[in-house]
Amino acid sequence: MTVRVPAKVNLQLGVGPIRDDGYHDLVTVFHAVSLFDEVTAEPVGGTHAAEGLTIVRDDGPLAVTVEAAPGAQVDIGDVPTGADNLAARAAQLVADRLGVEPRVRLRIRKAIPVAGGMAGGSADAAAALVACARLWDDGEEPRLDREELLELGAALGSDVPFAMLGGTAVGLGRGERLTPALTRGTFHWVFATADGGLSTPAVYAECDRVREAQGERVAWPQVSQNLMTALATGDAKALGAALGNDLQPAALLLRPSLRRTLDAGRDLGAIGSLVSGSGPTCAFLAESENHAAELAAELGGLGVARAVVRAHGPVPGATVI
Ligand code: C5P
Repeated sequence: MTVRVPAKVNLQLGVGPIRDDGYHDLVTVFHAVSLFDEVTAEPVGGTHAAEGLTIVRDDGPLAVTVEAAPGAQVDIGDVPTGADNLAARAAQLVADRLGVEPRVRLRIRKAIPVAGGMAGGSADAAAALVACARLWDDGEEPRLDREELLELGAALGSDVPFAMLGGTAVGLGRGERLTPALTRGTFHWVFATADGGLSTPAVYAECDRVREAQGERVAWPQVSQNLMTALATGDAKALGAALGNDLQPAALLLRPSLRRTLDAGRDLGAIGSLVSGSGPTCAFLAESENHAAELAAELGGLGVARAVVRAHGPVPGATVI
């Protein structure tokens, strides 16, 4: 059972005050883009040998291997190993819910940057949820419906439900309460990845620290109406002007070199640019597919990124292939 799952970029990431549980209330607009991981779930017998590049877990019936997708420049060495791998936790969660042994080998093929602010780990968890639910749900009626899978996803991570849903959606709460957004047409993106990831908790903590140092009262974020109109009318220029990320200042403080990357994209004519999620990947909006190709080629030549990749959005969420 193979499930393909997209990366995301937050077109808007409004970060509200910190909550008692340590999370921040968000007003965010998620957008799924055509950079995909694939997770294959294979049933295994009582014993197995996990060949492959990274053996994440081989101490029980559940094994995970991770490899880079052909041609993708991703640091699979940075994928968390052990029981904290989100896809392994997803498979365990489905097994617990269905009351079965998690006798499965998960093979993860990554094209989404690792710890890059594009929800790669969440994507793998979403794919593993969908794949394992299908694998172990042998009845006529699914024992885990979509709503239940979304709930399990939210328990695994704030971005997991969106990876299942895909498209473009407004996210509230931790980002797990989703409402699909109206969009028209396709938007063309260029992503500049960086050497080494950024820790999401560290970026949120830096955002809190800066706000506290500035004595800033944290205003409740609002969905940008300009952004929603740009999406609904398919107006790329207006979308570019409406992009916003409250975590960007914190990401730039932790990784000052990103400023050069953002400036380079802007100088080359990107109609919008921002740090993706908690970074360090930078996202650039292009006017058209051709413009994206030009922008990617020129940006790639400047040495301001580890890799430069093109993608379009919106695309569907986790899909069985
Ligand atoms: O939910 P997830 O495990 O992906 O979140 C990773 C970290 O990001 C959290 O531990 C928290 O530090 C931060 N976070 C947050 N507020 C959110 C989402 C994530 O503070 N709404």
